[in-house]
Amino acid sequence: MSDPRFAEKSAAAGAAAARVRPGMTLALGSGTTAELALRAVAARYPDGGGLRAVASSRATERTARALGIPVGSLEEIDRFDLMIDGADEVTERLDLTKGGGGALFREKLLALRSREVVIAADATKLVRRLGERMPIPVEVVPFARPALLRDLAAAGWAPRLRVAEISGRPALTDNGNELLDLHLPEPTADPAGLDRRLKAITGVVETGIFVGIAHRLLLGRPDGSVAERTAPGAPGKP
Ligand code: A5P
Repeated sequence: MSDPRFAEKSAAAGAAAARVRPGMTLALGSGTTAELALRAVAARYPDGGGLRAVASSRATERTARALGIPVGSLEEIDRFDLMIDGADEVTERLDLTKGGGGALFREKLLALRSREVVIAADATKLVRRLGERMPIPVEVVPFARPALLRDLAAAGWAPRLRVAEISGRPALTDNGNELLDLHLPEPTADPAGLDRRLKAITGVVETGIFVGIAHRLLLGRPDGSVAERTAPGAPGKP
């Protein structure tokens, strides 16, 4: 089925790819928009452009290799000039919900090691508060999951175990962990506080709440134009 948001995603992805310079170290995000950006980067640098990258998921790693972009591990590179990624939700302050594709842990790890984090997204992703249109994903250790389901439910966050569509079994991340999607009773007014509370629970590996991590948002519009927003202190901005 064709993606009704394709034009917006492509426009945003193209604008993100335009920020890549020869010889950069890149952190590669995951999801459909990040993949479009990767394809745009590969089209700009058919000879590889001296780029070196680490991918936030096995799927992205496969795509990058197929496109001729050299991908390594954190063994070789652990700081990045630029990360390009998508998001499930983004606020005006550039806080994000991520992890719809399950890659939140590696995405956050790479983003925190990147000098500039650029988020490319279609206009539907813009929300007033996180948790408005998507649940908040949380990666958990499988052994802990039954207890965490009870604890998170008792806290009022209505967790649901993410299940793989085909197998009907718990969806596993690239780290071999499981995902709980939190259906908040109302969008959060304090995403940083929620992130801290969740991260303090033993068995929680990471959350899909990204606060103060993204520097630049490129939001594609249906007419193919791109709106840009930057976080205070973004690289290249006063
Ligand atoms: C992957 O785990 C996610 O964080 C993606 O970046 C997010 O789901 C956005 O994906 P799309 O670009 O496919 O909407």
